[in-house]
Amino acid sequence: MDIQQLTDFSPEAIDKAFAAVLADAQSTIASPGFDAEAFRLEWLGRKQGRLKQLSDAWLKTAPVEGKKLIGQRFNALKEAIEGALENAGTGTAKVTVSSLDITLPGTTQPVGAEHPLVKTMAEIVDVFRKMGYSTRLGPEVESDFYNFESLNFPPNHPARDTQDTLVIADQEGKPLRERLLMRTHTSPVQIRSMLMEEPPLRLVIPGKVHRNDESDATHSPVFHQVEGLCVDTNITFSDLKGTLDHAMKAFFGSSVKTRFFPSFFPFTEPSADVQISCIFCGGKGCRKCKHSGWIELLGCGMVDPNVFEAVNQRRIELGKDPVYDTSKISGFAFGMGVDRITMMKYGISDIGLLYSGDNRFLEQFA
Ligand code: DAH
Repeated sequence: MDIQQLTDFSPEAIDKAFAAVLADAQSTIASPGFDAEAFRLEWLGRKQGRLKQLSDAWLKTAPVEGKKLIGQRFNALKEAIEGALENAGTGTAKVTVSSLDITLPGTTQPVGAEHPLVKTMAEIVDVFRKMGYSTRLGPEVESDFYNFESLNFPPNHPARDTQDTLVIADQEGKPLRERLLMRTHTSPVQIRSMLMEEPPLRLVIPGKVHRNDESDATHSPVFHQVEGLCVDTNITFSDLKGTLDHAMKAFFGSSVKTRFFPSFFPFTEPSADVQISCIFCGGKGCRKCKHSGWIELLGCGMVDPNVFEAVNQRRIELGKDPVYDTSKISGFAFGMGVDRITMMKYGISDIGLLYSGDNRFLEQFA
């Protein structure tokens, strides 16, 4: 191709001239028996290459008003030719130009959706928010002090065995209370909150927890809890019952009944397990509730005075007032498993699906 001198420097004429050069390059690249090395020499050669000639003929001689556009088109052309040459080597020869081609299909951005666990957790939190509770979060890597000691699990207490703990490696050199572990429950955030804040408190604490559990249809080493803590003057077990009864009705529907059974947790005294009437059969008895009519859903109780004492002690160490005076204040706490509630709600039979990251599963909840 002989290089024509440009005489017309209107944008249309410039675009037309560059389009002709590009078309020429494209047809060479697309032709059978295309030789990439020969093409490179012919078009991109530093001294004799066509692009060099083009630059000499069009760019250098252009009048001021045409120079900017020619410069831009020249760079775009060079990029397009180099790109096409690269693609030719991978068998996907295609010349692209950096100007906008509105006929190309757009890139779709799939809209994400909340994971069913996150959705359920937010819905539970919302029930309590409407009762005046606010949300707190805490770390998943926790110290023995927050996860156990301050919650009235003394060292070597058998209650620790109920929480199959995943510990962080190489902590033996530290005093026990400073050793790190993966939190086994959200309860340590009760302590962290009471260290930072003074009563009255009404808090919900959603989060991820970890246990050394073998995976099966109902167990996963990672799962989720929502914790609650209410501390004020004159908080009684009736407040606990009323609050949880209301929360269960707000979450599962107003026909749901609750009942409380004596239980044990080191950090509450007395402690209780809460059951709700079976949401599948209405309490008549079915396979889901093992024909009992009831489903066990959460643990709760009145905050053990030893917990307030541990908080006061630590507050003093931190230079703060020990304001959790057990002669004046009391409180209740509760904790529930989000995964089980989610599985019940959506009819999911294998907890592993919630952690598989499989979009075919997750899309069903979008
Ligand atoms: N932390 C307990 C667990 O993981 C659940 C729990 C029970 C939390 C009773 C509480 C509570 O706050 O009062 O098994």
